[in-house]
Amino acid sequence: MVTASSIGSRVETLSGSGISTIPKEYVRPKEELINIGDIFEEEKSTEGPQVPTIDLKEIDSEDIKVREKCREQLKKAASDWGVMHLVNHGISDELMERVKKAGKDFFDLPIEQKEKYANDQVSGKIQGYGSKLANNASGQLEWEDYFFHCVYPEDKRDLSIWPQTPSDYIVATSEYAKELRGLATKILTILSLGLGLEEGRLEKEVGGLEELVLQMKINYYPKCPQPELALGVEAHTDVSALTFILHNMVPGLQLFYGGKWVTAKCVPNSIVMHIGDTLEILSNGKYKSILHRGLVNKEKVRISWAVFCEPAKEKIILKPLPETVSEEEPAMFPPRTFFEHIQHKLFRQSQEALMSTKEAALKSKEAALISTK
Ligand code: OGA
Ligand code: NI
Repeated sequence: MVTASSIGSRVETLSGSGISTIPKEYVRPKEELINIGDIFEEEKSTEGPQVPTIDLKEIDSEDIKVREKCREQLKKAASDWGVMHLVNHGISDELMERVKKAGKDFFDLPIEQKEKYANDQVSGKIQGYGSKLANNASGQLEWEDYFFHCVYPEDKRDLSIWPQTPSDYIVATSEYAKELRGLATKILTILSLGLGLEEGRLEKEVGGLEELVLQMKINYYPKCPQPELALGVEAHTDVSALTFILHNMVPGLQLFYGGKWVTAKCVPNSIVMHIGDTLEILSNGKYKSILHRGLVNKEKVRISWAVFCEPAKEKIILKPLPETVSEEEPAMFPPRTFFEHIQHKLFRQSQEALMSTKEAALKSKEAALISTK
């Protein structure tokens, strides 16, 4: 539905309007602004730790030694970083290019045409074209528009809300989702074995072929006149079991590792894979869900295609699997459904926002008192 409030609220419109300073809602609080530098410079840096690249070519090798070495590297990256560049993942470059072209062609349409696909978050219609609504007192916003929809399993999709233009969108995206689902199974198998579990265990715990839902979010980050003050996506961990991300080779993704923000390199034909909260919980913290964020820049539009593999909202209780818990390693997470986990995170976030508003108010009061002394 096209509503008065949705028109004119797109970041793309703002970006194209020729403003040289961004509205205050997009300016991040001071604490977040340290270390937001020029992302192109940051991407070139070879200093410090780097996001691991995992080559999956030998994942099913006949040679047990070769196969085990490959699998060890994957498990190590999942336990150490919780994020990695996957190469030789088995999904063809051609298919990935088609998905990216289709998404880009959709976003290249005039805004009025995209608005026909607008979501309506207030009424619970979360699928479609959208931008973040301010969800706390500070009214903080992110420098991006997006398109969000379920892509797998096929009976849970609603093709009627998918972009009709370009014509390859539905075909390419469906095919890609199907391939990713296969890759997810492969990864879950290795990660199960890595915890000393039967190979099908994690797949089963997250709902198997019927219940694990793949949701695609195309993140569209327009050029930003003050990239040092804004964020495309604020710091968060993904709630999913796994997340797979493609991008248009414009840097932006940063990972919080070893107490510092590390900029991900753009690795050709790779898929960025995150371990999300769901696997972190099931593995009792042995696999990590890393804090990450997205920067924006002045020169280039950045687009990323994130596919979140998520368990059913209410059906499954997420808690550390008994095999991962011992006297020395007690359960680090209380049992919650996926839905409760999300609610809990939102609640914690709003508490933190409240705290920082209060702190800011106190500080300005103190400052006023000092200045009148
Ligand atoms: C996300 C995300 C990062 C990116 O959508 O959850 O972290 O690279 N995106 O756009
Ligand atoms: Ni994320």
